[in-house]
Amino acid sequence: YIDKVKAREVFDSRGNPTVEVDVILSDGVRGRAEVPSGASTGEKEAVELRDGGSRLEGKGVLKAVDNVNTEINDALHGKDPFNQADIDNTMIKLDGTPNKSRLGANAILGVSMATARAAANEQGVPLYRYLGGTDLEIPQTFHNVINGGVHAQNDIDTQEFLITPIKRTTTREGIEMIANTYHTLKKVLHDAGYDTGLGDEGGFAPNLKTTEDAVKMLYKAIEEAGYKPGVDIAIAIDPASSEFYDEKTGNYNFEGSEKTPKEMADYYENLVKEFPAIISIEDPFSEDDWDSFVKFTKRMGGKIQIVDDDLVVTNPEIIRKAVKDGAGNAILIKLNQIGTVTETLEAMRVARKNNFKTMISHRSGETGDTFISDFAVATNAGEMKSGAMARSERVEKYNQLLRIEEELGEAGDRISVYPNDVDKD
Ligand code: PGA
Ligand code: ZN
Repeated sequence: YIDKVKAREVFDSRGNPTVEVDVILSDGVRGRAEVPSGASTGEKEAVELRDGGSRLEGKGVLKAVDNVNTEINDALHGKDPFNQADIDNTMIKLDGTPNKSRLGANAILGVSMATARAAANEQGVPLYRYLGGTDLEIPQTFHNVINGGVHAQNDIDTQEFLITPIKRTTTREGIEMIANTYHTLKKVLHDAGYDTGLGDEGGFAPNLKTTEDAVKMLYKAIEEAGYKPGVDIAIAIDPASSEFYDEKTGNYNFEGSEKTPKEMADYYENLVKEFPAIISIEDPFSEDDWDSFVKFTKRMGGKIQIVDDDLVVTNPEIIRKAVKDGAGNAILIKLNQIGTVTETLEAMRVARKNNFKTMISHRSGETGDTFISDFAVATNAGEMKSGAMARSERVEKYNQLLRIEEELGEAGDRISVYPNDVDKD
């Protein structure tokens, strides 16, 4: 049974405070987890409890830590760590708000994840086995190699430019293709006279002016690294467009011009025509522009993946509405948007049952915790994004996938990479 839960304040990859939790079982076995934090957060995300005041720019999490060490500890003492749903529901009830704002989603999620780890450790199995059993599949990885928007101090409005390995037989091979392309991109940018400093997710943050310019750089890097854009390596973008949406006009202030939703849709359609290696667009419209998602999915959903992030914030209820209305055809999954392992699993069930794809995601403020890698394998999520091949808080997630692939091989498991009908000639 759970003897004790104990939290402390640690720091994330942006140097901001975050919550770390230890769950200690009655026989002394432990589980530990760290909680990540976003910058372009959705309005309906579960609430991160921050202290306010002047200490650490108001971002301290001592109240959340205290909530774990007192109220949550009292409520969970003596409980069965293998009953994840009971642990999570107990905390949800104890919190009593619809968005976890009283105890803090950062407090609750830390305990939720650390409980799963403690249970896996108690069984003596890796986390992906504990959560996923057998017949597992390694996700296709999406690597954010050019950072813009609120993740970098440059002029590009699109927040993320991701590359993903298509033609590969193993995860290792795919990651190698991305590492080659990432290094080549650095040369390509440098030779074109751009800065090669990094943004929050380990991608380069060159002062390019437009989304097209950035995609052109990706094409060049993919080709110079010896791959075919769209065949060997594909491209995805995340405009995270809530960040440049004007609620008053209902228009988008994008790259120097004001665009109506219809003009944005035309823009994306032309972009994909000009650069057919683009296979996925995340949050093409604002979370407050639901209708545009629905229209765009009717128009482009048969051709590309349209990923709902800020729009649905890993919330099973909102995902149900997206399914019903046909808003998007894939769901971004971030544990800290909803705040417990149990609700995240429910969000994924709703998505998959309705043939929406799922992509597990890091946050722009990350930690050394590789929970999402195990989680992505355990749930056969299909896709995972965790930044560039730089900055250990990003790369460790990929390294964990490499370890898992090796272990699955040693255990004699079927190893497959997603999608498993990938051309293997
Ligand atoms: P965030 O960005 O972690 O800053 O919210 C990630 C995303 O928008 O996908
Ligand atoms: Zn996003």
